[in-house]
Amino acid sequence: MRIGILGTADIAFRRFLPALQKCSDITYAGIASRTPEKTVSFTQVYGGKAYSSYETLLADESIDAVYVPLPPALHYEWGEKALKSGKHLLMEKPFTTSLAETKKLLSLAKKKKLTVHENYMFLYHNQLEKIKELVANGTLGELRLIRAAFGFPKRSEDDFRYKKALGGGALLDCGGYPVRLALELLGETTKVIQAKLQQPEGYEVDLFGSAVLENEKGLCAQISFGMDNVYKCELEIWGNKSCIFTDRIFTAPPDFYPSIIFHTKDTVHNERQNLDDAFANSICNFIKRSLLSNGQGRNVQIEKQAELIEELKEISR
Ligand SMILES: NC(=O)c1ccc[n+]([C@@H]2O[C@H](COP(=O)([O-])OP(=O)(O)OC[C@H]3O[C@@H](n4cnc5c(N)ncnc54)[C@H](OP(=O)(O)O)[C@@H]3O)[C@@H](O)[C@H]2O)c1
Repeated sequence: MRIGILGTADIAFRRFLPALQKCSDITYAGIASRTPEKTVSFTQVYGGKAYSSYETLLADESIDAVYVPLPPALHYEWGEKALKSGKHLLMEKPFTTSLAETKKLLSLAKKKKLTVHENYMFLYHNQLEKIKELVANGTLGELRLIRAAFGFPKRSEDDFRYKKALGGGALLDCGGYPVRLALELLGETTKVIQAKLQQPEGYEVDLFGSAVLENEKGLCAQISFGMDNVYKCELEIWGNKSCIFTDRIFTAPPDFYPSIIFHTKDTVHNERQNLDDAFANSICNFIKRSLLSNGQGRNVQIEKQAELIEELKEISR
């Protein structure tokens, strides 16, 4: 498989291309930019061809798949163009900015028998696998509450995250992570029961927020997020036998050893986890499914995630 990139995004340079080098069955074809000079730093470090526009890259029939790390408001337009050009689609999160757009892209991919992927890479880290195992094997006992938070300090004013027209906003940018984690842990019956998005005066988009999600058994996840917050990236699961806490749950880089802290009635202990490369695992999952004739895989979760984001916005209104 040959993959190309639309846009000289920071995440493409810093995380996607180093991770791609660890994946087999794939070759990096090149990168397209609206401003061709911006591709130089990429070609110098990673090689590949520089395309003078997104359209020229999509017109290249030797490319089988595209990675789309554009601002969220452009995901639908370029995702649709990529699928119509017959390319598998590795979409950065959020998949699109609305449930309606997400449904349209999923249905187009199905019609074209192409694979789509939403790059919530934490889903592919062994840290989460271990946590799911602890829940499933009863180590925590009966679950009482899940708590997850993701937020970071203010970025530069011109960042797309603070711009409405580019699909900014804390919910779409960082809130999507704890929502996706709640869905993973609470299951397919997850719904939003309480939500508040905060848009301080002078901002075009929500800057921070919180919500409660619940499954059919009444188990709740309290989530919080923000993009003018002190850094937090954590998960706590409280059971009747043990409570676990872990940090960097959404962002653990390949050289970071995550740890899980276990609290029981009488003890506290810290268990260091193995290193893992969630980004490379996420790309490999996409490649594997793309190489199958009809690798639909995680499409149900992509749609459910978009539904939860929509519910959260609705309840907060
Ligand atoms: N999975 C993760 O861990 C993770 C982490 C960070 C970000 N992300 C996601 O990755 C995507 C990109 O994030 P980023 O922080 O890397 O973004 P970024 O550095 O701002 O890059 C976005 C790129 O989009 C292109 N673009 C096209 N039209 C644009 C417009 N009107 N305004 C601004 N840029 C435009 C630009 O490339 P050209 O100028 O070359 O065309 C730009 O370099 C987002 O969807 C974000 O949510 C994911």
